[in-house]
Amino acid sequence: MLKVLLERRSIRKYKDDLVESEKVKQILGAGQLAPSGKNKKPWEFIVIENREVLKKLSEVKPKGGTFLEDAPIAIAIVGLEANSDTWMEDCSIASTFIQLEAENQGLGSCWVQLKSRFTKDGEDAEKLGKKILEIEDEKRLLCVISIGYSNQKKIVYKEEDYVEVEFKTIK
Ligand SMILES: Cc1cc2nc3c(=O)[nH]c(=O)nc-3n(C[C@H](O)[C@H](O)[C@H](O)COP(=O)(O)O)c2cc1C
Repeated sequence: MLKVLLERRSIRKYKDDLVESEKVKQILGAGQLAPSGKNKKPWEFIVIENREVLKKLSEVKPKGGTFLEDAPIAIAIVGLEANSDTWMEDCSIASTFIQLEAENQGLGSCWVQLKSRFTKDGEDAEKLGKKILEIEDEKRLLCVISIGYSNQKKIVYKEEDYVEVEFKTIK
């Protein structure tokens, strides 16, 4: 586990290689295993492979999302707000599980935030993303996780980053 945590970095450049469907299944399975308030699992995942849709999503997020255009796939994390008051926390954990399993599968990933973000024209990025992905009004679109084989070199975290955390102990 520590190896995965140390080696995971946000990857924003990808090779053209396709992501095997078996790996996608395992990544989604990891998301489904995430803990959630009252075990409600208030999320839905949408796997986006369509190039046109990925391009449209990249335009929604000119800051920190343009790379979606070249990502082999992305997984949209949809929150079922009406089902749980902890949907945001739950969906964030599911997103993290997805990213960690992607790393475990030898893939790079990056979180692209849509909730509380805006397009270059000041439009609500979540609202626009929901329209592109045809998500029902009552559901939320937290983020989109881009996934693919990394085409960039990034320095991995070191064990010192892990052990040198300062903390207080209450005895
Ligand atoms: C809640 C959240 C929102 C993020 N939003 C974006 C985003 O919109 N675009 C992006 O390129 N990266 C985004 N990131 C990735 C962070 O920039 C990245 O995790 C951080 O800089 C640390 O780098 P690392 O992931 O390589 O450790 C987001 C991460 C989180 C957890």
